[in-house]
Amino acid sequence: MSSKNSKSKLIFQELGDSKKTAEIDLAKITELKSLEEWKVKYLGRKSFLTNILRDIKNYDPKERPIIGSEANNIRKSLENSFENKNKELKQDEKKESHIFDYSLSGRIPNRGRLHPVTQTIREVCSAFSSLGFQIKEGPEVEWDLYNFDLLNIPKDHPARDMWDTLWIDNDEIDGKRMLLRTHTSPMQARIMEKSDPPIRVIVPGKCYRYEATDSTHEWHFNQIEGLAIDSNLNFTDLKGTLYDFARKLFGPKRKIRFRCDYFPFVEPGVDMSIDWQGNWIEILGAGMVHPKVLESVGYDSNKYSGFAFGVGVERIAMIRHGIDNIRHFYGNDMRFLSQF
Ligand code: FA5
Repeated sequence: MSSKNSKSKLIFQELGDSKKTAEIDLAKITELKSLEEWKVKYLGRKSFLTNILRDIKNYDPKERPIIGSEANNIRKSLENSFENKNKELKQDEKKESHIFDYSLSGRIPNRGRLHPVTQTIREVCSAFSSLGFQIKEGPEVEWDLYNFDLLNIPKDHPARDMWDTLWIDNDEIDGKRMLLRTHTSPMQARIMEKSDPPIRVIVPGKCYRYEATDSTHEWHFNQIEGLAIDSNLNFTDLKGTLYDFARKLFGPKRKIRFRCDYFPFVEPGVDMSIDWQGNWIEILGAGMVHPKVLESVGYDSNKYSGFAFGVGVERIAMIRHGIDNIRHFYGNDMRFLSQF
């Protein structure tokens, strides 16, 4: 056997040993970083295997294909083992990232809450529901016909100035103009148009007025309209209903004041105030529905009578929670809102 032949034998031996060592080392690996180091060591440019293939020209020409093919088989086998191990470790890593740590204390979810004005709307609605009133809703963009004309406030009537109006900037349609409703009273006409007495309805909703704001006035606010129509309703029914509502919301001891007031769609008209820190704060306007309003929707004013009222929701929330400025409600300040 030539010296080259005995060299080849040794190479076979060494290739086999190197494969075994590589496989033993691979079996011990538990993390991806060590796997990369393994790859450099056994399959990299300076590895034993790469050196053999690079120096193949130094071997007996007859032995070269055998050594070459053996070295290549070992390389393929090690590359396969590498790929399998790589997959295995990556899967383990994924599993670990999904492990739930039971020892961690839980995170308290940030729970949403209802805005204090929404809470108050619900409280007022529930007080009137218990008195037999149904709840309805109506449009915020309204015709001047419903906001004014059908409420006994014809065009050019000075009473229109009582409500500084935000008009919708479009052309008149059949002589009618659109606006953002200044109160929820337009729903009086809409409800009566569609149904016959007896009626007992409340309508919560947003209103808009083109007016300067101060501690008790916003340019947008909520009202709850009330309407009751029947064959024999009178002023004591109105007063009794509103007293009962005020008692439910403010308790039996709170002072309540009724005063005469003027609204073109009621006769007589009143406003109701609540004692708040020694001052009277007006919470609603009310009165007996004007016969002209009943007639304008086709009711017989000799047969039917009724009362209506419009409650200011933010004012009620202010009194209930001791809030001194209406503008807090719409400042979106969580320090304020999270108190309710
Ligand atoms: C009206 O709006 C009448 N529609 C109420 C009414 C209905 C009278 C049915 C008769 C029959 P007034 O403008 O006074 O009335 O408003 C009623 C209530 O809404 C007030 O008492 C007040 O509590 C509230 N309110 C009025 N303007 C504002 C405002 N700018 N900001 C906050 N609340 C307001």
